Amino acid sequence: MSKAHRAACVIGYPARHSRSPKLHGYWIAKYGLDAAYRAEEIPPDRIRGWLSNLAAHGYVGANVTMPRKEIAFELSTPDERARAVGAANTLWLEDGQLLSTNTDIEGFINALDAASPGWQKRAATAVVLGAGGASRAIIYGLIERGVCDIRLVNRTLAKAEAIGAQFGDVVRPVAWHDRQQQLATAQLLVNTTSLGMHGNAPLDIDVADLPRDAVVSDIVYVPLETPLLAAATARGLATANGLDMLLHQAVRGFEIWFGVRPTVTRELYDLLAADIGH
Ligand code: ATR
Repeated sequence: MSKAHRAACVIGYPARHSRSPKLHGYWIAKYGLDAAYRAEEIPPDRIRGWLSNLAAHGYVGANVTMPRKEIAFELSTPDERARAVGAANTLWLEDGQLLSTNTDIEGFINALDAASPGWQKRAATAVVLGAGGASRAIIYGLIERGVCDIRLVNRTLAKAEAIGAQFGDVVRPVAWHDRQQQLATAQLLVNTTSLGMHGNAPLDIDVADLPRDAVVSDIVYVPLETPLLAAATARGLATANGLDMLLHQAVRGFEIWFGVRPTVTRELYDLLAADIGH
């Protein structure tokens, strides 16, 4: 099937801060495709009508950012991954139907694979901080990779318990003040909270208690190196950051819309990192 003259977009409000046009634009140029990827700023009251008429707006697919992932989920036919997370970030038209998936799962897992090949052979126990939408995607990915003990630490314990109820005994909800005690046996520590993000308070946790071969991941990407990741690097631990995840989550959408599976390279990372500026 010809993939000529295809366009996709990222829908946000605002959308101008999105790094996705630069990322997909890089791949479009690299693979010499007759394609386009644009940012579309759509106000919340127009999003439903807009997504329902994607083809009329000239698009074969779209990404949506928070908090539109739930709306995208409702308006589309989600696959199993999107259903497990209750949110969709990648949409495409197929035979006139709007389909969706959640690529945050593979974004997280593939970034970990790149940062520390074979991590899952060691990671029997993982500590995940935060119980929002990103946390749900990450937990799905960890379970799929065979992690059998996930300590889910959240300030609002009830939210961790709700995720535990969905995913079963493999997820153990833990109170926020007990986070430090979880580290001694954790081969993987993941921050999905907004702590450490530019303008927010830093995450108060000491990576000194992690095992020597632990991996630390942070979904925050402004700054690229959060205080958590800086501390982990100083200890010699492998790390994956939010930009690694962003790049890896973009791969499947690009492949679905434009028919080429793109590669995440150091050059692409550096291009986006320069844009983020830290
Ligand atoms: P996302 O969907 O991107 O994960 P979110 O749903 O807003 O974003 O979740 C943000 C996470 O950061 C939540 O787990 C939140 O904890 P609560 O569930 O208790 O709200 C966590 N978070 C935000 N600020 C925090 C703080 N000051 N201390 C601890 N956790 C915090």
